[in-house]
Amino acid sequence: MDDAPALVVRGGYADWRRQALHALAAGWPPDAITWTEQANDAAGQMTLDHAAAEAGVAEPAPSHGAVPQVRISKDLAELLRDAALFRSSRRWAFLYRVLWRWQQGDRAVASAADEDGAQLNRMAKAVRRAKHDMIAYVRFHRRDGDAVPEYLSWYEPDHDVLAYAAGHFAKRMGTSSWCIGTPQGAALWDGRALHLTGTPPDADTMRAGARRDQIEPLWLVYYKSIFNPARLNETALQQRMPVRFWKGLPEGPLIPGMIAEARNGARRVGQTGTVGEMRGKPIAMDAGAAQPVRAAPTSLDQCRRCELWRHATQAVAGEGPDAARLMVIGEQPGDQEDLAGRAFAGPAGQVLDEALRRAGVPRDSLYLTNAVKHFKWIARGTRRMHKTPAQREVEACSHWLNQELSRVRPAVIVTLGATALNAVLGRGASLQQTLHQPVRVGDAWLLATWHPSYALRLQDDQARDDVRKAIADTLAQGWQLARSEETAAAGAVFDAGAKAIR
Ligand code: URA
Repeated sequence: MDDAPALVVRGGYADWRRQALHALAAGWPPDAITWTEQANDAAGQMTLDHAAAEAGVAEPAPSHGAVPQVRISKDLAELLRDAALFRSSRRWAFLYRVLWRWQQGDRAVASAADEDGAQLNRMAKAVRRAKHDMIAYVRFHRRDGDAVPEYLSWYEPDHDVLAYAAGHFAKRMGTSSWCIGTPQGAALWDGRALHLTGTPPDADTMRAGARRDQIEPLWLVYYKSIFNPARLNETALQQRMPVRFWKGLPEGPLIPGMIAEARNGARRVGQTGTVGEMRGKPIAMDAGAAQPVRAAPTSLDQCRRCELWRHATQAVAGEGPDAARLMVIGEQPGDQEDLAGRAFAGPAGQVLDEALRRAGVPRDSLYLTNAVKHFKWIARGTRRMHKTPAQREVEACSHWLNQELSRVRPAVIVTLGATALNAVLGRGASLQQTLHQPVRVGDAWLLATWHPSYALRLQDDQARDDVRKAIADTLAQGWQLARSEETAAAGAVFDAGAKAIR
């Protein structure tokens, strides 16, 4: 065996590789060699390909004849190239030990189960992470005027990944000139070629030059605006963007404040706002099944059985004596009823009052209520326009109508319009088929007629008068039935939605 020398690595992986192959060829075991490294101070020019090779993108071509060859697996080659960028004074000796063992036929050296293999994998992994971080966290700042290079950046990588990242940016930033300064050296792209130097530029000058540009304030406003405190996951943030990088990022100084705000309530407010803005989608299904199991509200004012309470001024309860023999049921409060808190207080109420007069029925002797107790409306300009309640809303409100029916036990029910009819007989009852003919519901009679608003909508005078008369006739018939001896007996307990008995 020749005398084992002290080997000096001056040019990174390529230089180590050339010397290591010679050492293997000479049969020098790892313990016999001292490896040291010397920073390559001289400013050098690299082509892009060269930078990429330094970065591990391509294997440097061996100098034919002069360098002996050793066949290694592709995986091991990649591990060696990455681990060579791990910043440690012992890296070259370690890599040579790995290569030596491989050449001796000891394939376990590339495995993570082997002590050296595990160390090699750890080093390569740390370097890959550092490469990723540098690509992700380098920020270029445009310099004022015609200054060259046009862009500056300062970055402090964990390992020797400057050449790799510089190769990456050179491929992507076209002919714009830039310089990345690090504590270990700098990379300068003049628009055509990459220059790498092991001499660190003056950090303060670089940092000052790389600090602010015209775009930065815009970026900061944008960064703040896209930050959603409700979605902040601090653990994930610190894993993906470790705190040590914040100082190099223009947005870095904002982050602690934004985290503090999120912790102190902005997260909850953000969440509430987003959830509140969701419009939701009504799902057609049986209202009973859709109701969560909960105690029934004891007061109509607190009713949340459907969504109508949200936009109504108040719930409008029925009114009249509990001993009333006649119950008249409308659809739902209108605009004026919603404000006044009384059923049939507006224009439809005037039509009803007139019909009651014609029928000779004193309003205060009957029980007057609605199938739905909250006003459902849509906005038209500044007006609230009536909107017919959905069946699920009618069913949700049947809780209150059932209570009224059970309490009052009317002998006769007059329903005004289709909604009221459906509320008592159940979905699908036909107003046309039920009009003006008494229907037995439990122990009571039900008489169906038009809704007073229908008369208000009709343009034709004759048709309007016919409807008004039909309503009055039905009320008179109901009043008569209610007072007859036959129906004066105590009423049955009703259940809105019960099947009609003809
Ligand atoms: N229409 C109804 O059905 N009920 C009222 O209370 C008012 C208008």
